[in-house]
Amino acid sequence: MLDKSLIDEISKKADIVTVVGSYLNLVKKGRMYVALCPFHDDSNPSLQVNPERNTFHCWVDGHSGNAISFVMQYEHVNFIEAVKKVADIIGYDDPRLHEKTYVKKIDDNLVPLIKCIDDLNLFYEYSLTSEEGKDAIDYLNKRHISSEAIKKFHIGYSLKDGIKTIKFLQSKGHSLKTIEDIGVTTNLGENTHDNNQGRLTFALLDNVGQVVGFSARHLNDGDGPKYVNSPETKLFTKGKIFYNFYQAKDIAKNERCIYLLEGFMDVIALDKIDVNNAIALMGTALSKDHIQVLKKLNVEVRLCLDGDLPGQEASMRILPLLLNNNIETRIVNNLNDERDPDEILNENGADALKKYLNNLLSPFDFIINFYKNSKKLDTAEEKKKLIARFLPLLLATNSQLEFDDYIYKLADVTGFSFNAIKKAVANARNKKTNNEIEIDEGVNPSNLISIFHPERKELRRLEKAEREILYHMLTKEDAITFYEKNIEYFYTDIYRDIANYILDYRSRNSGINLSGLISDIEMKGATNKEKVKQELNNLINEKIHLKFSNKLLNNCQKVIEKEKKIIYRKEKIAKATEGKTEEEKARIIADTLRVDKK
Ligand code: UTP
Ligand code: MN
Repeated sequence: MLDKSLIDEISKKADIVTVVGSYLNLVKKGRMYVALCPFHDDSNPSLQVNPERNTFHCWVDGHSGNAISFVMQYEHVNFIEAVKKVADIIGYDDPRLHEKTYVKKIDDNLVPLIKCIDDLNLFYEYSLTSEEGKDAIDYLNKRHISSEAIKKFHIGYSLKDGIKTIKFLQSKGHSLKTIEDIGVTTNLGENTHDNNQGRLTFALLDNVGQVVGFSARHLNDGDGPKYVNSPETKLFTKGKIFYNFYQAKDIAKNERCIYLLEGFMDVIALDKIDVNNAIALMGTALSKDHIQVLKKLNVEVRLCLDGDLPGQEASMRILPLLLNNNIETRIVNNLNDERDPDEILNENGADALKKYLNNLLSPFDFIINFYKNSKKLDTAEEKKKLIARFLPLLLATNSQLEFDDYIYKLADVTGFSFNAIKKAVANARNKKTNNEIEIDEGVNPSNLISIFHPERKELRRLEKAEREILYHMLTKEDAITFYEKNIEYFYTDIYRDIANYILDYRSRNSGINLSGLISDIEMKGATNKEKVKQELNNLINEKIHLKFSNKLLNNCQKVIEKEKKIIYRKEKIAKATEGKTEEEKARIIADTLRVDKK
């Protein structure tokens, strides 16, 4: 391992313009430099280098970081190797850099597979443009898929004679074993051919943008299954991948939401109307890994599965999984419209699809509608079960208006009277009818409660104010001092973590240096490192921040204090009223409010 102070020294000296400029042709534009981004297929310079902050950022694919991060991503090397390369580029020498250390390259044993599948991808892309790809091009034209989309989604064609694919890969020096290992063929031997032969190919990328497999569509109905997906390989694990996640994630972070669709043609349809924060499940169930990916992304999920019964049932299955994992979710209201987004676009046009995507239901309303429309509420037993399903939510709802709204809707679908349901809730509250209450096993009541927590709105305001201060802490010493003196700690976990990194960094260095901070975090290897890095990148590249001033800091502090107070009060009330009767509850709430007013 290299010495910390050495790494910090190199990070600070690593001038971003020098380092990136040694790889790319940089052009000065105002106070910035721009270049064609090497991390995606760029035709319009979208990589921006900021000499003041000593960072880079691509507006299209979201790659960003300091000089060391750039080299890591460009050269596919690990952190230590990148530090050494950067030292070399900027002409910094130190004997410690030459000490022999065992440096393991990232995933050494996967390198032959990656090289092979990258070649295969190029071969498919090339074949599409060849004479033999004409039918495939015709098909794409028929579906209004532009040449930009073909490029962006790495759409290609697998030649009719699938033996040619294997021969091509062998001519590139890949062994039959490697060719088999990437999943392109499953029958090594006599007639080894490409499983995708004669099909349109869609590259599947993992979460760092590496091609790991393909989904291949037939051009004519009747030619076998509609889509053939790569088998699971060392590179490709179905349950870990959403179609288009890599290209959608940064846009989703900016938009603070992501559309989760059923088919990847639908992702491409949304892309046509410039909705780029869309991913698809690729015909599989939502796995634990998928959930982790969405959790980490930390944005609202907009579920948009098909409007037919199987699609709605799938939403009903997926919804509790998301909610129980504290993933904010709304559902596109597509009931009774059995068309998928691609079909809506083709039949009704862009505006209709946009409107459709923006018609969103809360989980409560979605579930209510589902029961209203699927004739599953015939018996009193089924109706009671539905009420039971919502009990945890009803018990946790502090707002009288919201509570009444829920009960009216439940009364509407079940046919029970408003008062009967209200009484059932009161009984549940008094735990009189404990035995009668069944909670649906798919939903963990305590989590449901947290999902519907009304303090979310305040959290947003609180989060915003904290974020504003944190942003300025990255560059302004005064903001850091202000934080230490007046804020002490942020309520939002991730911001508190980043603030701690900043304080820690500053305690060992004179002042704050963004490039040094990024390396510092990289080195520390904390468990939430990826999240911190991601959040930091978002923060650095956000365009919307208020101009720094002491007044701004003071205003943010006021918001933080006010919102925290509201949240704490609600928490206090929730705790104190747990299991209490209506009257007791009312008294406790009144008392708490009175005390707080003094
Ligand atoms: P759909 O049948 O809804 O496909 O399957 P689609 O996206 O609308 O495709 P087009 O418009 O007919 O071309 C939804 C998803 O299920 C998976 C695919 O990932 C598809 O996107 N699927 C479907 C398969 O894996 N295999 C199949 O044979 C069919
Ligand atoms: Mn379709």
